[in-house]
Amino acid sequence: MARSGFTWGVATASYQIEGATHRDGRVPSIWDTFSATPGKVLNGDTGEVACDHYHRWEGDVDLIASLGVDAYRLSIAWPRVMDERGRANRAGLDFYKRLLDRLEAKGVQRFVTLYHWDLPQHLQDRGGWLNRDTAYRFADYADLVSRELAGQATAWATLNEPWCSAHLGYGDGRHAPGLADHRFASQAMHHLLLGHGLALPVLESNDPRARRGIVANVGRGTTDRDTAADRDAAQLYEVQHNAWVLDALFKGAYPADLFRLWPGTEPLVLPGDMAIISRPIDFLGINYYFRTNVRSDGAHGFVEVPLEGVERTQMGWEVYPQGLQDLLVGFKAAYPALPPIYITENGMASDDKVVNGTVDDAQRIAFLNRHVAAVDAAMKAGVDVRGYFVWSLMDNYEWAYGYERRFGIVHVDYATQQRTPKQSAKALTAFLRSRAAV
Ligand code: FCB
Repeated sequence: MARSGFTWGVATASYQIEGATHRDGRVPSIWDTFSATPGKVLNGDTGEVACDHYHRWEGDVDLIASLGVDAYRLSIAWPRVMDERGRANRAGLDFYKRLLDRLEAKGVQRFVTLYHWDLPQHLQDRGGWLNRDTAYRFADYADLVSRELAGQATAWATLNEPWCSAHLGYGDGRHAPGLADHRFASQAMHHLLLGHGLALPVLESNDPRARRGIVANVGRGTTDRDTAADRDAAQLYEVQHNAWVLDALFKGAYPADLFRLWPGTEPLVLPGDMAIISRPIDFLGINYYFRTNVRSDGAHGFVEVPLEGVERTQMGWEVYPQGLQDLLVGFKAAYPALPPIYITENGMASDDKVVNGTVDDAQRIAFLNRHVAAVDAAMKAGVDVRGYFVWSLMDNYEWAYGYERRFGIVHVDYATQQRTPKQSAKALTAFLRSRAAV
C-alpha cells in the first residue's frame, strides 16, 4: 500500500516499557499496586524494570528511526509528571521533553497518548474513575502536559481504550484496579469519556497545531449459527465492545442495548455531559486484534463459543483480518460524524526465541501483511484511514500476562535488555524502503 501521506508507525505505552517506577519522583500507579497483588498477573510479573526504556530511551529512539517508520506512538505516565497535589514534576516532564526532541530530530512523528491505563494510585484511593472528580483531574493533567510539551507532539490522544479501563478494570477485575461490577464499569466509562471531552479544548488552546483524538479498541463479533437470536447475540457483542464508546463519541448517547444486556447499570449522567463527550475530534484511533464467535445465551445476552480449527496466536486470539475491514466499513456507515482513522494498534503475540541471532516470526509477517491488506480494502471501500501502527515496537509488559506474551517486532531479552529486531521488523523496514524508492 504505497499511498503518499499514509503514516506508518510502531507503538508502545509507558507502563509496559519504561520501568524505573521509583525514579525521579514518580508516584505509584494503579498498575504498581495491581501487579504487586498476588494472583493478579501471570508469574507475578511487574513493570518495575520492564524494558528499562527510562534509561535506554536514546538507543530506543535510534532503533525506531532505524526501522524507517514515519511515526512513533507512545504514552506519558501521569504519575511521572504530576505529584499528589497536582504540581508539576520537572524530572518526569524533562524525560518526555528529551524523548520527543530526539524523535523529532530523527524525523519521527510523535503520536502521544495521555492515558494508557497508569492512573496515579492516590486518585484511585479517592475512587479512581468512579469519582467524577477524576475527570477534572485528568483535564488538569492534560493542561500541564500540553502546556509543557506544546509544539512537540504531532497528535494527542486523550485515552487509550476506555473500554479496557472501564470494563476490564472496573467490570470484571482482570485489570487494575481490579473491581468487578458492571455498574462500576459503566460509571467509570462515563467519567473516562467525560475526562476525554474536558481535555479537548484544553489541548486545543495550549497546542493548537497538534491533532486531537482518542483511541478505541474494537472487536468483531460473529456467530456460527444462523438464527435470529444468535445474530442478535453477535450484534450485542459489538454493542458492548464498540458502540458503548463510539455511540457516546459520535452520537452523544450510550446505546440502549447495553442496558438490555446489563439492566440497571445506567451511569449517572449530568446535563451537558454527553455534549462534552461528543465534542468533535480530528482523528479516531482504532486498535484491532481479533474476532469472537458468540451465540445467544438463551436470555438477553451472548456467550463466547470458540471456533475450532482456526488460526490463533499465543494469546489464543483468532487471526481474522476480515474483521478489521468489516468493522471499518461498518463504522463509516453507522457514524456520519466519523473523523479520519488511524489504526493505532494491530499485531500479535508469539513465543519468539533468538536462534543464532535471528528471530523467525513468520506468522507475524503474514499477520501484518493480511491486516494491512484489510485496511487497504476498507480504504478502497471509501473509509478514510490515514495511518497504521504496529503493536508493538518491542516485547514488553503485557498487563495481566506479564512478560510471557511477546508482541514486539523487536525481541527483548529481559535478562540483558538486549534488543534484537525480528524478521518482521526487517520485513517492515524493507517494505518502507521500497515505498521510499517509488
Ligand atoms: C491493547 C493495549 C496494549 C497492548 C495490546 C496487546 O489492548 O492497548 O497496551 O497490551 O492490547
